[in-house]
Amino acid sequence: MSTPRNSCEWNAAEYHRLSAPQFQWGQRVLRQLELRGDECLLDAGCGTGKLTRILLENLPRGRVIGLDLSRNMVIHARQNLAPDFGDRARFVTGDLVALPFRGCFDGIFSTASFHWVLDHDSLFRNLCDVLRPGGWLHAQCGGGANIARLRQRVRGLSQTPEFSNWLGKFSEPWYFSDAESAASRLRAAGFEEVKAGLEEAAYTASGEREFGEYLRTFVLHRHLELLPNDEVRTAFVGKLADASGNDNPQWTLDYCRLNIRAVKPA
Ligand SMILES: C[S@@+](CC[C@H](N)C(=O)[O-])C[C@H]1O[C@@H](n2cnc3c(N)ncnc32)[C@H](O)[C@@H]1O
Repeated sequence: MSTPRNSCEWNAAEYHRLSAPQFQWGQRVLRQLELRGDECLLDAGCGTGKLTRILLENLPRGRVIGLDLSRNMVIHARQNLAPDFGDRARFVTGDLVALPFRGCFDGIFSTASFHWVLDHDSLFRNLCDVLRPGGWLHAQCGGGANIARLRQRVRGLSQTPEFSNWLGKFSEPWYFSDAESAASRLRAAGFEEVKAGLEEAAYTASGEREFGEYLRTFVLHRHLELLPNDEVRTAFVGKLADASGNDNPQWTLDYCRLNIRAVKPA
C-alpha cells in the first residue's frame, strides 16, 4: 500500500458558502478586539476572507495581511476583498510555521485555523517573531474534546474492511490542544499576559444533507481525499450521517473552541 498523501487545498467556494458557524464564532472573537483603527494586522489562516473583511471595516486607517496555506483560499479572498479595500488588504500564500515576516505586526487575529497546524511550539514561536514588541495575539481554534464523538466514529469506521485499505494507518490531521498546554507553549514562545480557555460550541446542521456537506467540505476533506473515488467517499460520509441521525439532537457536531490571548513583551 502506498503512503497516504494529503494536499493542503480547500474547496474555497464551498467553504465560503457553508462556514456560517465559523463566521459566527469569528465575529464573536472580533468583537472583543480593542482596535485604534490604524493597526497593521495579520489574519493567520484567513480562509476566504469573510472575517478579514470585517477586520478591515474596523481599521479605517489600518491594513491587514491575510495569510493562508491554501492557494484556493488566498485567490478567493483576494478577488473578494481587493475591489473594496485596495492596498489595505494583501493576501499571501504561506505556512504559519514558516512565516515570511519579522517584528512588523501590531496584532495577530486568527480563527478556526490553529488546530490544522500540528506543531504548536513552532506555530507560537513564529507568531511571536512576527509581532512588534507590545503586539498582541487574539485567536480561537478547535481545542480540548473538539468533535470527540465524530472523531471516535471516524476512527472506528477507518478500521473496517470497507475503508481500512486507505484510512487504516491515517493519523488525524488536527491537533486540539487543551488550555493549559496552549498557555505553557505560548509562554515558552515568548508571550506574556497569556490567557487560554475552552468553550463548548455545539453546532446543529439543518439536516442530513447539510451535515454531509460539512463533513465533505471542511471537517473530513483530508480523510476523503485519500479515498479512491466518489462512491467510496459517499459511503464513508453516509455511514457517519446515519450514525448522527440516531443522535439526540440529530446532525450535531460537538465543537469545542480554544480561546487564546497573549502579548509580546514591549
Ligand atoms: C477552517 S478555515 C478558517 C478560515 C477563516 N479563518 C475562518 O474563520 O473562516 C482554516 C484555514 O486554515 C488554513 N491553514 C491550515 N493550516 C495552515 C498553515 N499551516 N498555515 C497557514 N494556513 C493554514 C487552511 O488552509 C484554511 O484556510
